[in-house]
Amino acid sequence: MKARDFWVVVFLASAGLLPVVQGTGLAQTPSASLDVLHWWTSVGERRAADQLGALLLHAGVQWNDAAIPGGGGMAAVKVLKSRVLMGDPPDVAQLIGSTLTEWADVGLVVPLNAVSVRQRWPQVLFPIVLDLVSYKGNVIAAPLGIHRINTLLYHRGLFARFGLKPPRTWADFETAARKFSAAGIKPLAWSDEPWQIATVFESVLLGEVGPALYQELMVQRKSAAWLDPRVDKALQRLRWLRSFSGNVPSERAWTASARELMDSTAAMVIMGDWASGELMAWGASPNTDFACVAVPGTAHMHLYSVDTLAMLVNGRHHAALQEKMAESLVDMPVQLTYNRIKGSVPVRRDISAVSLNAMDGCARDSWETFADTGASHHPSLAHRMVADEAAKDAVAHALWRYLTDDLDAALTQKRLAVAIRAS
Ligand code: GAL
Repeated sequence: MKARDFWVVVFLASAGLLPVVQGTGLAQTPSASLDVLHWWTSVGERRAADQLGALLLHAGVQWNDAAIPGGGGMAAVKVLKSRVLMGDPPDVAQLIGSTLTEWADVGLVVPLNAVSVRQRWPQVLFPIVLDLVSYKGNVIAAPLGIHRINTLLYHRGLFARFGLKPPRTWADFETAARKFSAAGIKPLAWSDEPWQIATVFESVLLGEVGPALYQELMVQRKSAAWLDPRVDKALQRLRWLRSFSGNVPSERAWTASARELMDSTAAMVIMGDWASGELMAWGASPNTDFACVAVPGTAHMHLYSVDTLAMLVNGRHHAALQEKMAESLVDMPVQLTYNRIKGSVPVRRDISAVSLNAMDGCARDSWETFADTGASHHPSLAHRMVADEAAKDAVAHALWRYLTDDLDAALTQKRLAVAIRAS
């Protein structure tokens, strides 16, 4: 497709004028289709996935949806495994981090080395992103977007009404939380779902223990480091945060917490910035209705999760079409349009000043922090950037028990020291 045509497509897409492919809707132009297994089923995630489908359609690739609901991909990972075991892998799967390399080890993933060379991925992608999709000499997935996990989203109207400043420190947070509690407003939206607890905890941990110890705990996975008194402080902070979630906390979808911010019944939420995409999908304006700050203690730090789509080997032999899809996903126009809707930021470091200025405050701070070699960058355990599914689930479960069974921090530290090495 000529560059001019592609920009026309992007303009139409951003103006919502493209015939958006809904699930298995009929394509506007005849094109071979690819089954895509993913877990983007919330309003914001669905909107981003449908936009991706519309953009890909104009590149000659039809996105046949195989969405598996469930935030954080808990169910999708299991369904993918069962489809592979039944000999029916999808053409494309949202595989990220450790689950990606596991499938590559069994020969399930189509290498994308030719695409990487053709599209200059080593030159245009962030080194961390290129590293995440490179494995044993092959490029094994197409990177889509970078999410910032250490994000605190707050309701701008409620903060303005009470004359409160953005919660950049835990003292700011506590001052605001006490005012909201007194006014009958839930200070912090919360869910006891294990993966969501782990998502909050790793941001709190980074802030309490600092970059160096975080890397020992999560990347080097040193069991002894989990007995450090600073981990105890992080666990105490986690329990303290949960005490601001109003009535009895329960396990509920992450979208329920985002909804409380939208309805002004809660003032803050700590969640990956996909929550920003959700709020925008419901009509909230970033910078005006809501804004973001780094979780206190983690300014100039980027706790990241990179979404990637892997092309899978199956009996349908779609290699050429899969390569075309991978190439389209990293194209600048697709990167800018998709990530603006999803709440993530482009995986490319060559975006223009104009595109950077067009980002909302949450996205701009995330992209600039990720691009800043002076900032510290930390992989998310809760979102599979380090360790494997078993260790992730074991850590999340230990944290869930700590909160819901009211276990003491010292015992939980020992459980985490064991859990981080589960496999
Ligand atoms: C993450 C994923 C995000 C978002 C989130 C909530 O693991 O990377 O794209 O979808 O789950 O479902």
